[in-house]
Amino acid sequence: MIKKRPKDFVPTFFNNTASSYDRIVHLTTFGQDNVWKHKIVEQLLTEKTVLDLACGTGILTEQIVNKIPNVKIIGVDITKKYLEKAKEKLIVYENISFVNQDAEKLNLDEKFDCITASYLSKYCISEVLIKNCIDHLKVGGKIILHDFTYPTNLFVRKLWNFYFKLLYFAGFFVPNWKQVFIDLPRMIRDTNWVKEYEETMKKYGLKIFKKELTWNTSTIIVGTKIS
Ligand SMILES: C[S@@+](CC[C@H](N)C(=O)[O-])C[C@H]1O[C@@H](n2cnc3c(N)ncnc32)[C@H](O)[C@@H]1O
Repeated sequence: MIKKRPKDFVPTFFNNTASSYDRIVHLTTFGQDNVWKHKIVEQLLTEKTVLDLACGTGILTEQIVNKIPNVKIIGVDITKKYLEKAKEKLIVYENISFVNQDAEKLNLDEKFDCITASYLSKYCISEVLIKNCIDHLKVGGKIILHDFTYPTNLFVRKLWNFYFKLLYFAGFFVPNWKQVFIDLPRMIRDTNWVKEYEETMKKYGLKIFKKELTWNTSTIIVGTKIS
């Protein structure tokens, strides 16, 4: 049997979950998703243009525009239903636009001061995504990647594994999320995204800053294009 690539899970995870995503991500991370997104936004200063890859329903996109009200943001996502939700929620912001594209085939006729991506890295091939990001980034600009990680501390790991067992049972009450709660923990255990993206960023000469968050259950990597 051919092993599925992480990207193959994207339609299963996201085709039927857009309407409940904001609530589910807040509840299932015990509000940590908001804390993590604040850590991403903290990295932004006075950027004029931001590309938010895998913007989903626009949670991070909205936090960015709230921090830098005059910023021009483009949100990109592969799943149309998530983009529709984002458009509906953020309709009042004239400086936000949305594009339906695969981040691994990114093709925008513009370079940005910053590229953000929350929960995208594990689905993509680091070499492909970073190369695309660099092609769309101004010199001095930053790529900020954030995603889940499998904690290294053994005690935290036990708690983490137990928590996903509970989520498995919770999945019976939220059928659209059942398969996500089954496949996501496996994917997080298997991914080596932090190391892979660090190596790729180094290879392309980016200056790297990395921060582990909430007992290493998620990580942020910032790569700055210095030349
Ligand atoms: C868990 S959601 C995260 C949404 C948002 N970044 C957030 O943090 O709330 C993951 C999103 O990644 C999108 N996605 C996955 N692979 C993608 C790709 N190759 N290109 C663009 N979007 C992708 C999915 O459609 C989904 O909307």
